[in-house]
Amino acid sequence: MADVTLTIDGQSVTVPQGTTILQAAKMRLGMELPHYCYHPGLSIAGNCRICLVEVEKMPKLVTGCSTQCGEGMVVHTQSARAKEGRGGVLEIMLTNHPLDCPICDQAGECKLQDYYMTVGMHDNHVVFPKVHKKKIVPLPPHIVLDQERCILCSRCVRFCQEITKTNELTIAMRGTHSEIEAAGDGTIDNGYAGNLHEICPVGALTSTDFRFQARVWWLKSHKSVCPGCSTGCNTWVDDRRGEVKRLRARENASVNQWWLCDEGRYGYKSINAPDRLKTARVKKTDATSGTAIGEVWARLKTIAAKKGGFAGIASAQASNEDLFVFRRLVAHMGGVADFRIDDSLTKTQTRVDEILRRADKNPNTTGAKLLGFGDGPGVEAILKSAAEGKISALYVLDADRFDAAGWTDKLRAVRTKIEFVVMHATRECGALDLADVVLPAATYAEKDGTFTNYEGRVQRFWRAIRPIGDARADGAWLATICAEFDAADAALAKPAAAFNAVASETPALGDLRWEMIPAEGALIAPGAAPKDKVG
Ligand code: SF4
Ligand code: SF4
Ligand code: FES
Repeated sequence: MADVTLTIDGQSVTVPQGTTILQAAKMRLGMELPHYCYHPGLSIAGNCRICLVEVEKMPKLVTGCSTQCGEGMVVHTQSARAKEGRGGVLEIMLTNHPLDCPICDQAGECKLQDYYMTVGMHDNHVVFPKVHKKKIVPLPPHIVLDQERCILCSRCVRFCQEITKTNELTIAMRGTHSEIEAAGDGTIDNGYAGNLHEICPVGALTSTDFRFQARVWWLKSHKSVCPGCSTGCNTWVDDRRGEVKRLRARENASVNQWWLCDEGRYGYKSINAPDRLKTARVKKTDATSGTAIGEVWARLKTIAAKKGGFAGIASAQASNEDLFVFRRLVAHMGGVADFRIDDSLTKTQTRVDEILRRADKNPNTTGAKLLGFGDGPGVEAILKSAAEGKISALYVLDADRFDAAGWTDKLRAVRTKIEFVVMHATRECGALDLADVVLPAATYAEKDGTFTNYEGRVQRFWRAIRPIGDARADGAWLATICAEFDAADAALAKPAAAFNAVASETPALGDLRWEMIPAEGALIAPGAAPKDKVG
C-alpha cells in the first residue's frame, strides 16, 4: 500500500494510506489524541467527537479517529480552534454527568477526569437542570451500570456485537434521554463480560468484584501471564499492600490482543485464599522451613544410597524453571517422572471458543512436554509400581492439582507401600494428609518465571507480591534439595539461571536466554504445535 506524507503540529510524518490522523499521531509522534469511542480492538464509531482536530483547508474541525491521512494534509491538534472544539464537546458531555467522582470507582483512571484536566472546560455555561437516570443497574454477574455517568461512546455495545457477538447491549431512547440498555433480565454472562468494565472509558460500567475495594492510585501494577489455560493471556496484576485486588488485560497482539476471559480475570482469588499454606509440615505438624527441608534431603539421600525407587509427579501449572529443577532432582535420584495428572496434553490446542479460551486449564503443558515430562510412565503406572513396592519415595510437585484431578484416593490405597512422600501445595487439600513432608508453594503471582503456551510461545511473568508466610517458589525449594547432591545446583533457585540452563539443554529453545525474552514472548519451535482444533 502506498504511503502518504502529512504534517501534524509542524512535524512531517509518513504513514501507510488508510491510517487515521489519531493513529498517525500515536504511531509516528507518540502523541495521544483524546478519545472515548475509539478503541484499537473495535470498529471505528466516530461518535464522541472528543478527538477533534483542525485540518487546513477543511471548513470544519474533523474527528482524528475516523479521518484518514491525506497527502500534503496539514493538521493542527493544539490550535485554538481545535482546543475550543474539544472543550465544547467535553462541556456537552458533562451537561448531565453527575460529577460524583468522589464515590466513583473509575476515579483515577477515568478519561472524563483526565480530559477535563487536559482539554479543560472549567466554566460550565449550562444553566438547565441535569437529566437524571438510573444510578445502579445490575448487569449480573460481573457488571453494574450507572446510566448517568455513561457518555454513550458505544464501546460496550460494539464489544458485544463484534467480539463476543452476543449483542446484549444497545443504546435506547433519543437525545439527552439516550441510555445503555441490556436485553432481557440484564444478565451479561458471555464469558468475556469483564472486558466491558475495562474498556468503558468512564465510571459507567464498573466491576462488581472490584467496586469499592481500593482507590486505583494506591494500586501497584505488575506484568504477568494468566495461568488459567494454555492460551497464556498477558495480564496486569494490581495489588494493594501485597494483596491482589484485580487482574487487567495487558495488550499482546500475538496472544490476547486487549482481552481476558472472565474465568481468567476473576481467577486471582486463589492467590488470596484463606486456606493458603503458610508453613511447612513434617508428619502433619507445622515445622520451620529448615527442619522440613532437612527431613527431605536426609530421607531422599538414604533412599538414593540404597537405590530405592523414586518417582516424581509434576504439573503443567509449574513454570519452566520450576520443572527444570524438578527434573534435576529426578535425575539425582535416578528416578522416573510424569506430569499427566489430567488429560491436558490432549487438549492443549483445543479451543473452547473463537476468542481466547482453551480446554487445557494449564498454562505450561507445552513447557512440561518440552522438558520431557510427557515421556514418563504415566501417573497410573507410577502408582501401580508403588503398589508393587517398587517406589520408595514419591514427590508430588502440585498437590492442589493432583488432588483436584482425583488421585488422592488412589494414592491412599498404596500409601503404606511408599516409604516417604513429599508434597508441594499452595492451599489445603485432601492429599496433604498422605505426605510425610509438605512444603508451602508460592503462586505464580509470588514468583518470576516463564510459561510456554499452546503455540510454543515462551512468556515471562513477574513477581507481583511477596510469597505468603514461608511459601517459596517450587524451584527454590527444589534447588536447596538438589544442592545436597551437587552444590552448583543452588544457583538454580534463581529463575534466570534455571531458564538459561533449560535453554542450553533444550534444542527447541535455541539460543533463547532469559534476558532476551521479548515483550510479546518468544515463539519457539514454530510448526511443532499441532493445528488448532475447535472442541
Ligand atoms: S457504558 Fe461506558 S462503554 Fe458503554 S457507552 Fe457508556 S461510556 Fe461507553
Ligand atoms: S483465555 Fe485462558 S489464559 Fe486467557 S484469561 Fe482466560 S483462562 Fe486466562
Ligand atoms: S474518539 Fe474520535 S469521535 Fe470518539
